Amino acid sequence: MSQVPITVDHVRDLLPEAGEIARKDLCDSVLDVWVRAWRSSAWQQLSDVPKSVDLPSSRTLTTHSRAVARMSAQMADTVTQLHGIAVDRDAVLAIALLHDVCKIHEFEPAPAGGGQWSTPGRRFQHGFLSAHWMLEAGMDDDLVHAVIAHTPHSSVVPQTQEAVIVHYADFADSDAQLLDAGQRLFCKRRP
Ligand SMILES: [Fe+2]
Repeated sequence: MSQVPITVDHVRDLLPEAGEIARKDLCDSVLDVWVRAWRSSAWQQLSDVPKSVDLPSSRTLTTHSRAVARMSAQMADTVTQLHGIAVDRDAVLAIALLHDVCKIHEFEPAPAGGGQWSTPGRRFQHGFLSAHWMLEAGMDDDLVHAVIAHTPHSSVVPQTQEAVIVHYADFADSDAQLLDAGQRLFCKRRP
């Protein structure tokens, strides 16, 4: 398939949950980071980037990001409504949509189709590039912290409600897909 134009509008179409972010500047920053990551990557189609090289290639990064955004927003609403705990819903959506954007560079197209680990993917800790691009975009440290803390590869423990929520939403969606594929669940892995 030929290269599609790498535009904010195309990314917005692939990530409609970004439209739920009420603060326009935050929504714009989320989409800009995705465009920047895609433009500098080896992927012609953003929708071809896999969620994991261990899952079928039909399990894509954009769909995982959407699922984590939806789950996170619903978790934020529940925690606020039932426990009265304040959660920044816009921040939760932004963190969820950006937590794995680094995979656009951590994976590269494989000759036989699908994805494979890239050199940066083998050399950089997961989440580092997402955080780097977010800082370049001038995003808040709280958002960057949550992305750094989302992965079990990080020694940083989630220290905000928003970071806790996205951490568990990511595990829930990842383990649903791993169980479906007959793979070992994240929740039973040990470093
Ligand atoms: Fe991740």
